[in-house]
Amino acid sequence: MRNSIIIVICCILLSACTKTKSNESTLKDALNGKFLIGTAINIPQTFGIDTLGVEIVKKQFNAIVPENCMKSMFLQPEEGNFYFDEADKYVAFGETNNLWITGHCLVWHSQAPAWFFIDENGNDVSREVLIERMRNHITTVVSRYKGRIKGWDVVNEAIMDDGSWRQSKFYQIIGEDFIPLAFQFAHEADPDAELYYNDYSTAIAAKCEGIVNVVKTIQEKSLRIDAVGMQGHLTMDFPAIEDFEKSLLAFSALGVKVMITELDLTVLPSPNNFAGADVSANFDFKKELNPYSDGLPEDIELKQQNRYADFFKLFLKYQDKISRVTLWGVTDNDSWRNDWPIPGRTDYALLFDRNSQPKPIVNEIIQLAKGKE
Ligand code: G3I
Repeated sequence: MRNSIIIVICCILLSACTKTKSNESTLKDALNGKFLIGTAINIPQTFGIDTLGVEIVKKQFNAIVPENCMKSMFLQPEEGNFYFDEADKYVAFGETNNLWITGHCLVWHSQAPAWFFIDENGNDVSREVLIERMRNHITTVVSRYKGRIKGWDVVNEAIMDDGSWRQSKFYQIIGEDFIPLAFQFAHEADPDAELYYNDYSTAIAAKCEGIVNVVKTIQEKSLRIDAVGMQGHLTMDFPAIEDFEKSLLAFSALGVKVMITELDLTVLPSPNNFAGADVSANFDFKKELNPYSDGLPEDIELKQQNRYADFFKLFLKYQDKISRVTLWGVTDNDSWRNDWPIPGRTDYALLFDRNSQPKPIVNEIIQLAKGKE
């Protein structure tokens, strides 16, 4: 009788322990040794104001990227006047919490200050001047965080969906060379930092081909490039997972790593079947395009969970080719998806809900990573 009681107590204790252990599993523990799991962080998190958000970052993730504070319009709003307060805080946050720190982004057509491309009369500057401005910006920023920021999104979104060059000021004034030059300047400023090319809608075959050519050009010049960032701004039906897989393999075949850099999954209807992440897109608010302002129906939540799981299955399948998967924000409250391409909507694009609670997908990813599904 006494033995039976002891056995029963042991069983209860064992089951309690197992249960606690499984509840305590985190994304970063489960994915340890496979790829880094990161998140973009915003200013309230960087400054520790969003304490619940910070808790999630510390517990679940081992890599961070700054959602906004390192864009050139914030870092150098006027020529020669650099503003590093927020970026310094961001890097300190990463160091304090032992996180892989990425810098985002050195050269991007968007969020660049207007002065960057024009002279005192408002005319486009010469090729030489723009190269010099680009060199100065990259050198100043990368040198400041030398040895501390582990990898940089050097060039962001230079190729259009049809594979052609984006007609940015960088392209129009400098020409195709602006990309290898940017990689050269970044490498000179911190030879140990990893360097990345980052873009959205990379699953579109023509765009993938355009990016492959960019990477080849960098490599042909014997310049450093470590990875292609496939921004994962997904919708419920774009892209097809097979297309995403094809692009992932095409980038990996170049001998670089692949990173999923800006993962989120909108559940909202898109105006005119609009996908991608062109920040300049803007459509009028219509009530019917904001159907879940009072909560997400269970069937849609499940559909989203399954689609997220399918993508994580793909990432795990290619864990030898992928170095990092980064969510574009911590909770649904933080997501840029609430305001793009229509301001003021209620989206549910991330892994943690508006109450800072993990969605069921978090545990599903953990189980997938442990090989349990
Ligand atoms: O800084 C101003 C602030 O002073 C003002 O009070 C506030 C009022 O709206 O706006 C602030 O600027 C906003 C900024 O985010 C910081 O919050 C801009 O209006 C807004 O356009 C900007 O949006 C960001 C967007 O990039 C443009 O930089 C999004 O948060 C950010 O998620 C998004 O991230 C991009 C990646 O960098 C590149 N890939 C696509 C991705 C999604 O668009």
